Amino acid sequence: MSPPLFSNQTRRSDLKSICVYNNKGGTGKTFLSYALSQFLWKAGRRVVVIDLDPQQSCADMICRITGVDETTSARRQSNNLYEAIKRRVRIEDLTSDIAPGLSIVAGHEDLADVAAKTPIMLLPDLVSRLADRFDYAIFDNNPNFSIFVQSAMIASELILLPTLMSVDDLQKTQWSYEAARQNNPDADIRVILNQFKGDADTIHKRRLADHFAPTFNGAIAATSIPSSAVIGRYLDTGERITRAQEKRALLETLSRLVAEIIKEQIVVEEF
Ligand SMILES: Nc1ncnc2c1ncn2[C@@H]1O[C@H](COP(=O)(O)OP(=O)(O)O)[C@@H](O)[C@H]1O
Ligand SMILES: [Mg+2]
Repeated sequence: MSPPLFSNQTRRSDLKSICVYNNKGGTGKTFLSYALSQFLWKAGRRVVVIDLDPQQSCADMICRITGVDETTSARRQSNNLYEAIKRRVRIEDLTSDIAPGLSIVAGHEDLADVAAKTPIMLLPDLVSRLADRFDYAIFDNNPNFSIFVQSAMIASELILLPTLMSVDDLQKTQWSYEAARQNNPDADIRVILNQFKGDADTIHKRRLADHFAPTFNGAIAATSIPSSAVIGRYLDTGERITRAQEKRALLETLSRLVAEIIKEQIVVEEF
C-alpha cells in the first residue's frame, strides 16, 4: 500500500486541533483561544497556540500574563510563520516555549504578504509534526478569510465560531459556518454565543439566536460565555482575576464549555 499523501493522516498521537474563527472582528476569538489554552494547560495538557492574527494579540496576552519577557517573546525572534514560509525553515522548529507544556507558534504582521507562497496543507502538516509534543493545538485567527484560515480549518477537527448576538454578527457567523463546512466537512463545528448578558436583553438575544439556529444545523453550543466586566478588564489590561467568586464563575463556564466541545470533563482549580 502506498503511504498516505498528507502527513495529517499519519498522526502519532491523538493531538486535538481547535480552530477559532469568525469572519467578524471583536466576537471573542482571541478570548476563547486564550482562555481555552490556559484552561487546558492548567489542567496539565500540553498546549501549543498558533497565532495567525497579524496583531498577535493572543501570543502577546500569553506572554504578558505568564510573565515572559517581551524580548524573548516569540514575535521578537525570527522564529515565526512568515520567516518560515519565506525562508523555508522547518515548521516544527517554530515553537517558542513559554512554560513547560505551553508553547506558541507566532504569526507576523506581514503574514498576508506570503499568502501566495503558502501551501494549503501548511497547518495540517505543522500539526502532524507537533503531534508527539502536544495534546492540543489552538489556532487563533483574524477575521479576514485567507489561505491561513482555510489551512487551519483543514488542520482542525473542531472549529469554534464565537459570535455576538446582533444580526450582522450572526450573518457573518453563518458565512463562517458555511466556509468551515466547505473546507472541512469532517470537522465538528460549534457556534458559541459570547457576551451573553444576564438582563432583559437576554430574551431578545435568545430569540435572535433561535431565529438563526436552523441555519447552523444545531451547532450552537448550549454553554454561552457571559458578558463580564472582569473578562473585559482581564483581556484589555491583563489585570488578574483575583476575586474567588469571579474566578470560580469563569472556571465553571469554561469547564462546561470544554466538556461540551471536547467531550471530556476537566477540572481546573486556578485561572
Ligand atoms: N465575555 C466577554 N465579556 C466582556 N468583554 C468581552 C468578552 N469577550 C470579549 N470581550 C471584549 O471584546 C473585545 C474583543 O474580544 P476579542 O477576544 O479580542 O475578539 P476578536 O479576537 O474576535 O477580535 C475584548 O477586548 C474585550 O474587551
Ligand atoms: Mg482576535
